[in-house]
Amino acid sequence: MDAIQIYGGNCLEGQIRIQGSKNAVLPILAATLLINGVCEIENVPMISDVYHMLRLMESLCCTIERDGHTLRVDASGVSGCDMPSDSVVVMRSSIMLLGALLARTGNVSMRYPGGCVIGRRPIDLHLQGLRRMGVVINEREDGFDAETAGLNGAVHRLPFVSVGATENLVLAAVLAKGDTVIENAAKEPEILALCEFLQKAGAKIQGAGTGRLIVRGVERLHAVSYRVPADRIVAGTYLAACLCSGGEIFLKEAPCSQMKAAMMAASDMGARIRESEEGMLITCKGRRKMPSVLKTETYPGFPTDLQSAFLAAMTVAEGDGVLEETIFENRFRIVPQLCKMGARICCFENRVCVTGIGRLTGAVLEAEELRGGAALVVAGSAAEGRSIIYNRHFIERGYEDICQDLRDVGVRCRKTDFSEKDR
Ligand code: UD1
Repeated sequence: MDAIQIYGGNCLEGQIRIQGSKNAVLPILAATLLINGVCEIENVPMISDVYHMLRLMESLCCTIERDGHTLRVDASGVSGCDMPSDSVVVMRSSIMLLGALLARTGNVSMRYPGGCVIGRRPIDLHLQGLRRMGVVINEREDGFDAETAGLNGAVHRLPFVSVGATENLVLAAVLAKGDTVIENAAKEPEILALCEFLQKAGAKIQGAGTGRLIVRGVERLHAVSYRVPADRIVAGTYLAACLCSGGEIFLKEAPCSQMKAAMMAASDMGARIRESEEGMLITCKGRRKMPSVLKTETYPGFPTDLQSAFLAAMTVAEGDGVLEETIFENRFRIVPQLCKMGARICCFENRVCVTGIGRLTGAVLEAEELRGGAALVVAGSAAEGRSIIYNRHFIERGYEDICQDLRDVGVRCRKTDFSEKDR
């Protein structure tokens, strides 16, 4: 069974270079389907979600060349609409291909997408929005067939903020006939990255990064080169690791301007943070303080994807604190795992109350999803003694090499595989 083994308990010291952003690159890869010609995408994180996306795109007749962290994607030959269901089922972002593929081919059949077990994660907003743009969608038990004779611009008022629905509707709108308005659009930096990529390719988009997007449909897009921005969630995970273990680390290329809420939470807990063009220097000396209340929100608020890593850091802070999740309903799955390490946490619906303890103790743990799994690695790095975290593959969905990154700051950890009988 794939796992990570850590001998933790020491302060962190050193430097980590932050990889390209998973949540930015996935919709950008989907956007290349709208372009005839070879797009060059640099700083692509080599993570399993990207491999799944590339496999899906190849099955649609895209030609993809890889040179290190650079991809050359040629979607000129895109024709098919049959996506391998195993990739669709493991990765929620496969839904991102829907808007672009409808613009390109006019019909798509797919299974409902999968992803993390952090909540129900329906796709109703995506489908409602596309119906409004002239797509006929027939839902089946395990998937749907979608067909359009041509996408038309429309006015969408999202009832709540959805990152994925905003991205899908932008992808459907750039080549649609007429104007599309998206009210209550998500403002996450990954939407801005997608819009920048599309604008570079000739799309007409106003209001990128705000709650109101206006897309004026154009006839065609042209090939471009684009560098994927650094991953604010990976950087935030290592910020939480420094909070949890103590020490001083430099996060090279950390996108500080996109991380204000996480930096503020870390400062409240006693971290000293210095930001610069090159990255983020974090110093954590002495025992961390408990934030009184930390709550997840849509951007620019504190990101739900960092909730678990900060929960790990809170378990060793001084005092009592509350962490509240407002985006996903099932995102406290790591609580029993952290309790195995000695953490004192009580759950109340979408809130947890934490009483800080001096130190965590290493334990045998099981990752159940991506961000929770990374948080267990954060906890294991700080815990006294040996921790084993099973199901490394969940973490590899979003972290290129979490063990190497942590070794760069002095953590004794490595990938390992155990047979069932070793457990
Ligand atoms: C994206 C991110 C994910 C992050 C999340 C919230 C990617 C690849 N993933 O996920 O890492 O945690 O944003 O910042 O970028 N919802 C519906 N119906 C829909 C769509 C969403 O009810 O059609 C609900 C979801 O269940 C959730 C909330 O809306 O409760 C927000 O989800 P959304 O912003 O869409 O998240 P994702 O795009 O899936």
